[in-house]
Amino acid sequence: MRLREGVAIDLGTVNTLVCVTGRGTVVDEASAIALDRASGRVAAVGHAADALAGKEPQNIEVIHPLRDGVIADLDAAAAMLQAFLRKAQLRRGRLRASAVVCVPGGATWVERRSLEAVVGAIRPRCEVRLIDEPVAAAAGAGFDLADGSGAFIVDIGGGTTQAAVMAGGQLVRAQSLRLGGNAMDEAIMNTVRAELGLLIGRNAARNLKTTLGLAGGEGTPGWVEAVGVDAARRTPRVERVQGKLVAGALEHTVAAMITTVEEMLSDIPPNLAEDVVRGKIRLAGGGALLPGLASRIESATGIPVVVVDDPLRCVIRGAAAVIERGDGLVPTQVA
Ligand SMILES: Nc1ncnc2c1ncn2[C@@H]1O[C@H](COP(=O)(O)OP(=O)(O)OP(=O)(O)O)[C@@H](O)[C@H]1O
Ligand SMILES: [Mg+2]
Repeated sequence: MRLREGVAIDLGTVNTLVCVTGRGTVVDEASAIALDRASGRVAAVGHAADALAGKEPQNIEVIHPLRDGVIADLDAAAAMLQAFLRKAQLRRGRLRASAVVCVPGGATWVERRSLEAVVGAIRPRCEVRLIDEPVAAAAGAGFDLADGSGAFIVDIGGGTTQAAVMAGGQLVRAQSLRLGGNAMDEAIMNTVRAELGLLIGRNAARNLKTTLGLAGGEGTPGWVEAVGVDAARRTPRVERVQGKLVAGALEHTVAAMITTVEEMLSDIPPNLAEDVVRGKIRLAGGGALLPGLASRIESATGIPVVVVDDPLRCVIRGAAAVIERGDGLVPTQVA
């Protein structure tokens, strides 16, 4: 098997990862860029930029260039990716060999083109190939894409939830919801405001989500302290947020995800049913780590559900494997 040089890029709504063959993951950053309002210069990228988000620094604008898994701000996305690729210290001409960029299964032609355009603008002579994220996720989850067996994978990211049934590296059924971890954060922020009169930021909401989730927080007293601003008095306040409140806030988003999985299961070709049940439903993406989600999907579907190893890196791992194998896996689209 020939080892080809190449770069894999997972430009996600919340996190961007870059992997170079032979060197592994060289960038694992927040998808954020901070620009100086006066000069337009890049003040920070990645985690450093994201850390400023919502804190309203007077001279800095923080941009998250992706929304729902696709590019919402082309210029900001290009500047951010350029900074990341500089950080990756690619050898000159290396990106030209082959770049594989992950794209959400449900992306439109225009959205796909804009991803290609961003990478193409940074490395004009680069050969850019797109790979559907569920295909990469299945490879990253350890499914052998070369044999014909079936796989069911659900990638729950920050802006999208993508469920796919695959056979032999080809998508058989795929559905993409423009809903993910960000929607969960927003639901928690809204519920805490409505029920407790407390305005909390995204980081506090994320902490409630990752600690309590749907399970109410095993190993915790069933609540977590959150610090925010009292909605009436506009002064900082500390509040105990109960697990039940957080689980209730997440219900709508989780129900939509489960409906998607159920719809796909109800449409599965009979010849793939055994592979799917025996291979289990694999959860990837950061949302897979939501406490209580795997068991919730398992009890709704009656099919075993497992979270893949290191789910936040599953897509990039799979994309890198596809380059390394050099098996010419072509981007696949399902209507
Ligand atoms: N332990 C956890 N519990 C619940 N959610 C988590 C946990 N850890 C991370 N997340 C969430 O996972 C999301 C990020 O996951 P990921 O990096 O897979 O998304 P992405 O690839 O950037 O987004 P997308 O694929 O939708 O474009 C965020 O919403 C984050 O809050
Ligand atoms: Mg993703």
